[in-house]
Amino acid sequence: MLVQIYGGKKLWSKDLVKRDLCTAIVVGGRSSTMIPISKYIDELKCELKDYTIISVKDSLPQINCLPEKMQYQQVICIGGGKVIDIGKTISLGLSKKIIESMLLGQIIAKYRRISRLICVPTTAGSGSEATHFAVCYLNGKKYSISDQSILPDISILDPSLLESQSENMLKVTALDAVCQCIESMFSKNANIESTSYAKCGLELGLNAINSMLFSAPKTQELNLLQTSANFSGKAINITKTNLPHALSYYLTSQFNVSHGLSVSLFMEVYLRTLNKKVRELSKEQRKNFEFLCHKLCGSEYYIHDTWSSLLYKLSLPKSIMDLDRKIDRKGLLNSVNIERLSNFSIQIDLSNFIDEVFNVTEPEFEKLICNY
Ligand SMILES: [Fe+2]
Repeated sequence: MLVQIYGGKKLWSKDLVKRDLCTAIVVGGRSSTMIPISKYIDELKCELKDYTIISVKDSLPQINCLPEKMQYQQVICIGGGKVIDIGKTISLGLSKKIIESMLLGQIIAKYRRISRLICVPTTAGSGSEATHFAVCYLNGKKYSISDQSILPDISILDPSLLESQSENMLKVTALDAVCQCIESMFSKNANIESTSYAKCGLELGLNAINSMLFSAPKTQELNLLQTSANFSGKAINITKTNLPHALSYYLTSQFNVSHGLSVSLFMEVYLRTLNKKVRELSKEQRKNFEFLCHKLCGSEYYIHDTWSSLLYKLSLPKSIMDLDRKIDRKGLLNSVNIERLSNFSIQIDLSNFIDEVFNVTEPEFEKLICNY
C-alpha cells in the first residue's frame, strides 16, 4: 500500500528509511547537484550503512543506464518521472539482460518488485510516484513494465524540491498532469474512483497554471502543482493514458520535445474530437465532459482553440506546426502505441486525427472567452 507523506521535514525520519538495508539511491543529473536536494542526499548518505548512488543521465529512461548489479533491499528515487521509472525497474531485482529479454517477449514471466521502494519526486507532472507501472526505452522503442507490486511503498511530496525547477519546466510538467487527468476521464477503464482523482487533479492543476500566467509560482502554487500531479498519477494508475500520450512519445524520442509539451500539442484536437463525438460517450462521461468544458472554457461545450490559447498564453508552442522541427506525419502515424490508444472511450480514425493536428488553424486569441 502506498504511504504518502506531505512535506519534507519528515523526509529521513527513522520510520521511512531503513538504515541497515543495502540501498540504491537513484538520482537524476540535476537532482544530484541542486540545492536542497543535494543536501537531502548528503544527509541520507551519512545515515545509510550500505548504499550505491545510481545517477540517471539520459533524457529518456533507458534500460542501458541500469547498473549491472540489481539486488538491492531498498531503492530510494529522488528525481523526476524518468528517475522514478528507473528506480522502479531496479526494484525488480532482475539483471539488465533478463529485463531486456522480458521486454522483447523472449522470456514470459511476471514482474515482481523485491526491494522496498521510496519515491521523492522533484518534478510535478508524471505522478509516477503513485502508479504501478514504469516506462523504459530499449533501442529507441518505448516499453511499459506493469505490475501492482511496482506501486511504491512510500512517496514523499515536498514542494520545496520544486523550487529549483525552471518556470518553463514547471509549466510543461503541470500541463502533463492536467492532460493525464483529462485522458483518464475519457478512458474505457474510468470508474468513480479514477474520475474523482482526475477531477481533483484537473482543478488543482488548472488553478496553478492560471496563477502562473501572472507570476512565478510560490510555495502555495508549488503545492498545488505537486498535489495535482499526484492525483493525476492516482487516476492513470487505474485508467492508464490514451490518445495524446500514445502520440506524444514520437515527439519526445525522435525530436527531443519535452514530454509535457508533446502531450499538450495533441490536446486541442483531442478536445475538439470529444466535442464532436460527445454522443458516443457514456452518460457519466458526458457529464465529465461538461465539467471539463466548464473548467476550461466556462461553457458546457468545448470552445475551439481554448487549449491552444492557453499554450500561447504560457509562451509555449501552441500547435505542432509551431515546433522548430519538421515532423513526419507518416512517422507519427506509425509510431502510435495501439494498446494505449485502445483505452480511449471513443473510436477514431487516427489518420484523420493526425491530419487535423497538422491543420489546426490559427487561434483567434482575442475573441476567446475562457476562465484564465
Ligand atoms: Fe504524462
